[in-house]
Amino acid sequence: MTQPKSPRNRPIGVFDSGMGGLTVMRALMARLPNESFVYLGDTARLPYGSKSADTVTRYAVQCAHALTQHDIKLLVVACNTASSTALPSLTAALAPTPVIGVIEPGAEAAVAAAPMGRIAVIATEGTVRGGAYLRAIKARKADAQVVQQPAPLFVALAEEGFTQGAIPELVARNYLDPILGEGTRPECLVLGCTHFPALKDVIARVAGEGIALVDSAATTAAAVERLLNQRDLASGTGEPERPRFLATDAPERFARVGEIFLGAKIPADAVELVDLLNL
Ligand code: DGL
Repeated sequence: MTQPKSPRNRPIGVFDSGMGGLTVMRALMARLPNESFVYLGDTARLPYGSKSADTVTRYAVQCAHALTQHDIKLLVVACNTASSTALPSLTAALAPTPVIGVIEPGAEAAVAAAPMGRIAVIATEGTVRGGAYLRAIKARKADAQVVQQPAPLFVALAEEGFTQGAIPELVARNYLDPILGEGTRPECLVLGCTHFPALKDVIARVAGEGIALVDSAATTAAAVERLLNQRDLASGTGEPERPRFLATDAPERFARVGEIFLGAKIPADAVELVDLLNL
């Protein structure tokens, strides 16, 4: 008879609307090499960024339930849009399993990179509309001056692997020029969407000198590590399992395109198709 796993040796669940959350998974794997991971990308229903808060919440809770079937010990919501709109519902749905989103760690990174508090945030429409970055930054630095700009086309460009050259550069100018004016020039630009780190080179070139680009991947990994230690949930084994991937559509595309975001090979047989509506 197989023994149930000790909570410490259970995997960490990570989900995103698609493959962009693999940038967060990459930071988690680098920081927590002893942990096992199971990642779910809701590729059938991407994008979340242009959907209503109710729809995003419903989808996010379904993703979380699918991951609980893999006996996860903690859930990381890698999607900024889901983190900004669905975190209370996810926390309630999964209790007592802890849930961490990417907005608070992203705000922490932004405030650290902007001593004068001049911060620009680019994100999906849903994240901007919900104002979660604004609130999280102000909670840390009440006098911060925050400008937000939705940049939805960056998601499509990253998904297509269109991350260099004239077209992404033109799109970046269109989004960034209005928020990078002289005088109000921000000290840092928050890449408040899972997909934007894939366009970091172009965004940095258009933003120009003196603006730090921050994303939540590294600070989220640090927050996860703190939480695992606080709850005595850090893995007790030096032998993590091979990462597993679940996709709600086109697993072979997930394996192929996902490598751009993960920065490592994803074997096709590590990706499983999952149907969230018939669990
Ligand atoms: N994962 C989403 C986010 O970080 C971007 C893609 C989408 O719109 O679903 O906001």
